[in-house]
Amino acid sequence: MVMKLPYLGSCLFLVFFSLVSIVASGSGKGLPILSFDEGYNQLFGDDNLVIHRDGKAVHLSLNERTGSGFVSQDLYLHGYFSASIKLPADYTAGVVVAFYMSNGDMFEKNHDEIDFEFLGNIRGKNWRIQTNIYGNGSTSAGREERYNLWFDPADDFHQYSILWTASNIIFYVDNIPIREFKRTAEMGGDFPSKPMSLYATIWDGSDWATNGGKYRVNYKYAPYVAEFSDLVLHGCAVDPIEFSSKRCDGTQSFQLTTSITPSQRSKMDSFRRKHMTYSYCYDQTRYKVAPLECVINPREAERLKKFDPVTFGGGRRHHGKRHHHMQASRSEADSI
Ligand SMILES: *[C@@H]1O[C@H](CO)[C@@H](O)[C@H](O)[C@H]1NC(C)=O
Repeated sequence: MVMKLPYLGSCLFLVFFSLVSIVASGSGKGLPILSFDEGYNQLFGDDNLVIHRDGKAVHLSLNERTGSGFVSQDLYLHGYFSASIKLPADYTAGVVVAFYMSNGDMFEKNHDEIDFEFLGNIRGKNWRIQTNIYGNGSTSAGREERYNLWFDPADDFHQYSILWTASNIIFYVDNIPIREFKRTAEMGGDFPSKPMSLYATIWDGSDWATNGGKYRVNYKYAPYVAEFSDLVLHGCAVDPIEFSSKRCDGTQSFQLTTSITPSQRSKMDSFRRKHMTYSYCYDQTRYKVAPLECVINPREAERLKKFDPVTFGGGRRHHGKRHHHMQASRSEADSI
């Protein structure tokens, strides 16, 4: 995440945490949906954030003046976080919508982050999504993956969810797991392990979002409006002032379902075969040797290589690509 967020206060806090147990059925069904005022605060963007009359759905818009965003009132250590999101339609190059967890405002040098980033596109091309993870300031080691979707995310609401436990992180789209990131011993602090807030933002990513900044946001099509509903914050809240956990005090005891069932796993595999367009594990321009957590699948390597021989090996090199890749470690692939 490139965006710098307003400073919300610093506290060096020790979290003595009794994680009673959290539940996230992975499906998100039946989980409590907080109204905006109960769970979130506006982060920026003045009246570009609009709360709907039911108090539960929110519009975030981007115009020539500003983007907008909101943040959870609480910090969470682990949990299930979800939103139904409808992205702006039509020409959206350079527009970035992000749904993510971070503690970058408290830990400037060693923050953690779990990202869903939606990258707008030129007319006729769908949005693409990117997932990424940073732990303890591991920003030099990007762990991006990018995908296209099996639907047009601007047509209707779809559910995007993050499950974060002490041992793994799972990203879901419409309850289908699309990525599982497991904690390994070698990873050390690179696995997110400090409490984070949940954020949703829309902003102008002209400088990096579409083809390395080739297509900029065109404000002729503004405002760009992203709609959010069914916001679920289901984890152990850690109050940064009281240093205590409010929602895991026994009255609501939860249980985390952290594993992926065989049928979900086969859906995940199929999704990744059909829709993954980039994985850091196979990016030979960035990693001569793939990071240790990567399990290299030769068929996957072949498939990605056909898709982009420059990045994934075996091909000619475009002029100037090196430079872009440094910068683009957190941005979109070079091909649309
Ligand atoms: C996280 O980063 C800090 C500061 O760079 C370091 O002191 C600490 O050991 C790291 N923690 C882990 C678990 O690697």
